[in-house]
Amino acid sequence: MASSNNYDAIILGAGGAGLMCALTAGQRGKRVLVIDHATGPGKKILISGGGRCNFTNVNATTTHAQERYLSANAHFAKSALGRYTPQDFIDLVNAHGIAFHEKTLGQLFCDGSARQIVAMLMAECDKSVAFGGRVDFVFDAPVGEVTHDGSDYHVTYNGVRAQGAAFVIATGGPSIPKMGATAFAYDLARQFGLKIVEPRPALVPLTLGGDDVLFRELSGVSSEVVAKHGKAAFREAALFTHRGLSGPAVLQISSYWRPGDQVEIDFLPSLDATELLLSEKRARPRATLRSTLDRVLPARLAEALAAKIGLLGNLADQNDRNLVGAGTLLGNWPFVPNGSEGYAKAEVTLGGISTDGLSQKTMEAKKMPGLYCVGEAVDVTGWLGGYNFQWAWASGVAAGEAL
Ligand code: FDA
Repeated sequence: MASSNNYDAIILGAGGAGLMCALTAGQRGKRVLVIDHATGPGKKILISGGGRCNFTNVNATTTHAQERYLSANAHFAKSALGRYTPQDFIDLVNAHGIAFHEKTLGQLFCDGSARQIVAMLMAECDKSVAFGGRVDFVFDAPVGEVTHDGSDYHVTYNGVRAQGAAFVIATGGPSIPKMGATAFAYDLARQFGLKIVEPRPALVPLTLGGDDVLFRELSGVSSEVVAKHGKAAFREAALFTHRGLSGPAVLQISSYWRPGDQVEIDFLPSLDATELLLSEKRARPRATLRSTLDRVLPARLAEALAAKIGLLGNLADQNDRNLVGAGTLLGNWPFVPNGSEGYAKAEVTLGGISTDGLSQKTMEAKKMPGLYCVGEAVDVTGWLGGYNFQWAWASGVAAGEAL
């Protein structure tokens, strides 16, 4: 090596994907430099899962990849996910004695703290020395220009110039800018001839306007629902907020929603609402729509829905056709959100560096040898619940094994 600033690989971004890439390459004997403008590693890992990091999902496998990862190329993620599985990450977590539990729907969380995951990844980077490799870190380092001289990549930061035979873009997407998230990955990718699939906020609360503003009065009310958009449907909690709708069911459906689209909410996922109203009419003719809904929904939600549907009087006073109409509405309540809370509140970014220009096996740019793109920066976005970290780990490993 010509100088101490000469590396086998320079990785930009010390998030989940960058760290996993670094430790994999380091343990293959590579000398790696990781540069980040944040003050320390894994900032998003630290805040994830309410501080407990939902570090993977047991279902983040090739079997489910096509359905649970959104990308212009539905098959792209399978290769990396198939070679580095949730069980591989669980083995690593176990090897570090980190206790964890399954919360729901295959989502694995630390019992203790997300800090354990960051410490584990940093310890694995340190282990590189035992394999003849090394991972150096530079934090608090805004990156200047990145150039390629035909064989090496040159990166300037804090007035220093480093060079590496390989260069990895692991700077994530623009979600949560106040944490230092940027769209820098896209600028770099474009600079090296890669295309960008239009990015947009995902896993994000949706906002309500027009007549639906009335629902904002329910701020704080949560209820299990099925949120639907086209063929996508998620049965989980929805939460009314002072701006609109949130909660896991709504965050999930937000990844499928585009401005102007309608989403539908089934407020009674365990029941056939029409059957409920018709049978109540016969069993309790003096019940009202409100009192019937009160028995199966949070009181404030029951009140709001009954008021919106507006069937006055007892159920006995209603003809069956009106009750069928009300039941149908309760099972498919249409909302046309007037927007989302945007990157400020989005857990992830849909779109990003187009997979067209990347090898699915190594994450290397097809036309730019030595350039790799990993993690959220790439046009692969998972469902809520550990899928996005599994993609960060798996794509990081795929590149780390290749560079
Ligand atoms: P990530 O964004 O983590 O890392 C990118 C790194 O690049 C950062 O360290 C950043 O500072 C650095 N960087 C950016 N621009 C730069 C520049 N211009 N110069 C230098 N450095 C730069 N997923 C999941 O599976 N389970 C979960 O529990 C959660 N929970 C969660 C909560 C919240 C609040 C958010 C916002 C997100 C989640 N996620 C999640 C999503 C998950 O955090 C995300 O998908 C991964 O962190 C992506 O990892 P990356 O390494 O690709 O990017």
